[in-house]
Amino acid sequence: MRVQLIGLGSIGKSLLKLINEKGTSIRQEIGEKIEVVSVSDTTGTVITDGMPLTRIIQAKEGGGLKTLESFEKISALSAISDLESDIVVEITQSTKDGKPGIGHVMKAFENDKNVVTANKSVLVSDADLFGTAKEMKMSLRYEATVCGGLPVFNLMDYCMKPAKIISIDGIFNATSTFVISQMELGKSQSFARTEATRLGIAERDQRDDLAGIDSARKGTILHRRIFGSTLSLRDANITAKESEIAAGFRQVTEVNSKGVTVGYRKVDGKSVYSNAVGPAMLIRFNTDVMDHLTLSTDHDGPLESAATVLNDILLSRSAKAA
Ligand SMILES: NC(=O)c1ccc[n+]([C@@H]2O[C@H](COP(=O)([O-])OP(=O)(O)OC[C@H]3O[C@@H](n4cnc5c(N)ncnc54)[C@H](OP(=O)(O)O)[C@@H]3O)[C@@H](O)[C@H]2O)c1
Repeated sequence: MRVQLIGLGSIGKSLLKLINEKGTSIRQEIGEKIEVVSVSDTTGTVITDGMPLTRIIQAKEGGGLKTLESFEKISALSAISDLESDIVVEITQSTKDGKPGIGHVMKAFENDKNVVTANKSVLVSDADLFGTAKEMKMSLRYEATVCGGLPVFNLMDYCMKPAKIISIDGIFNATSTFVISQMELGKSQSFARTEATRLGIAERDQRDDLAGIDSARKGTILHRRIFGSTLSLRDANITAKESEIAAGFRQVTEVNSKGVTVGYRKVDGKSVYSNAVGPAMLIRFNTDVMDHLTLSTDHDGPLESAATVLNDILLSRSAKAA
């Protein structure tokens, strides 16, 4: 299974670490090796050619990918079209217009490569990537886009078939919960925000986390998926206020047939949200026959999301979309 990695930030580095640690046991289990063919960032591409993945991480954390002998100043787009692989993992940052991620996904499909992504912005853009994937008989897996390490779509696909999802609510953004929890411990907001970036849980533009954009992207992905809508990010009702990034509040997202709402809510001890402390996440499905089904984690960060991406890679191997 030949994989190309586009983006080597918090998730990309965690993914390489995971493949390095788990590669042997995965090979024993599935009888196939995960071969990372190339790794691209904004500076260019490293053609790995069997190089230890730890060297790539060290280079990225040191002088950059350009310090590696097999570094080439070729863009991710060229790497996707020029190098042979089976799966493109698109994990560049989420942006306002979904670029450059959309271009990478389209280029992968054009070159007969399946895609795994954690990039939310590509899925809430106007580009119909699912339609293109279906038309071209390619697979597009995206489990890590909503609540990173929680198995949201796999739960829906494999465990909830008889149920109708009436609505979903939860805490979809770990950074806001982390920042507020730190403030509840007496730390300043700016300290907490710096920590969130250091831990790799924050978006590249941290305002996306605290102003509710990141949660709205996740809510929109869910709305499109559950209600078959073409809702765009612009349709989300975001009421998050700066003054509510404060002790006793949690950023809550609600998704129902009418749309997506994101805002800070005052929570008390009785609320399911009050248990969310630190980089926690929670998603609750309100269904007709399975009551309220809740998934939560105390820690959602790059490692957990990378594990989800790795699971998607394994699920996509030799897949052609149904
Ligand atoms: N962090 C999380 O916990 C988490 C959880 C779930 C989903 N996500 C999503 O997953 C994606 C990745 O997150 P992250 O935290 O790893 O992001 P990140 O730390 O900001 O890293 C983004 C990476 O993309 C690279 N990149 C940007 N433009 C590129 C281009 N044109 N060609 C090649 N590489 C390019 C950057 O290169 P440089 O290093 O050269 O700048 C960087 O390595 C985001 O879309 C995010 O929303 C993140």
